[in-house]
Amino acid sequence: METWVNNDKFIHEQLIKDDSALERVLDTSRKNLLPEMEVSSPQGKFLYLLAKIKGAKRILELGTFMGYSTIWLAKAVPTDGEVITLEIDERYAKMAQENINYAGFADNVRIIQGNALDSLQALVDANTPPFDMIFIDADKPNYPMYLEFSLKLSRPGTVIYGDNVVRNGKLCTLNTPDANVKGVKKFVEDLGAAERLESTALQTVGVKGYDGFTLSVVTH
Ligand code: DHB
Ligand code: MG
Repeated sequence: METWVNNDKFIHEQLIKDDSALERVLDTSRKNLLPEMEVSSPQGKFLYLLAKIKGAKRILELGTFMGYSTIWLAKAVPTDGEVITLEIDERYAKMAQENINYAGFADNVRIIQGNALDSLQALVDANTPPFDMIFIDADKPNYPMYLEFSLKLSRPGTVIYGDNVVRNGKLCTLNTPDANVKGVKKFVEDLGAAERLESTALQTVGVKGYDGFTLSVVTH
């Protein structure tokens, strides 16, 4: 674990460097003693690079928290691009809005505060155009439902990324009572069964411990 952290720090120093708006976000969660659920900086930059490689103009994020990954994604979209991000917690949504404003992305980010399943249904009902990329990073038990909605808000080529699926190696646990593990396990099973998706998952180690993510592309 110490090696993972030291190597992540080296990677941060060499390849990512400090960005005051992003550092401010991390300070917000530390100062308010909130769970440090943000993606690591190398992972944030990975999301940013993925969005750039995809040429994503419209991105949907599930789970805003303090807005850390939101800002990474907003940095990747063109000036007329948009990140829509869903957050259930009113306090988190307010703090994230301040961080996003400070980062200069008030015009490119829309936070929708409320239960994500309701917000997703509202996006579907409003005939929201499909997104180029969807980042699923909210409550784990609902991941299978988030996948269903993501498919409704996709078109061929949409990239779907699911965070925190390996959960310290518990993903493959048989008959687990852990609702988070159950959620991500069903999510990975559903990805495998989805006819419209090609998917993989990668395990990761670093400052956030041992975890992993899924990556999918919508084929048709
Ligand atoms: C948890 C959730 C996250 O989104 C994350 O990045 C790390 C941990 C969690 O629920 O444990
Ligand atoms: Mg996460």
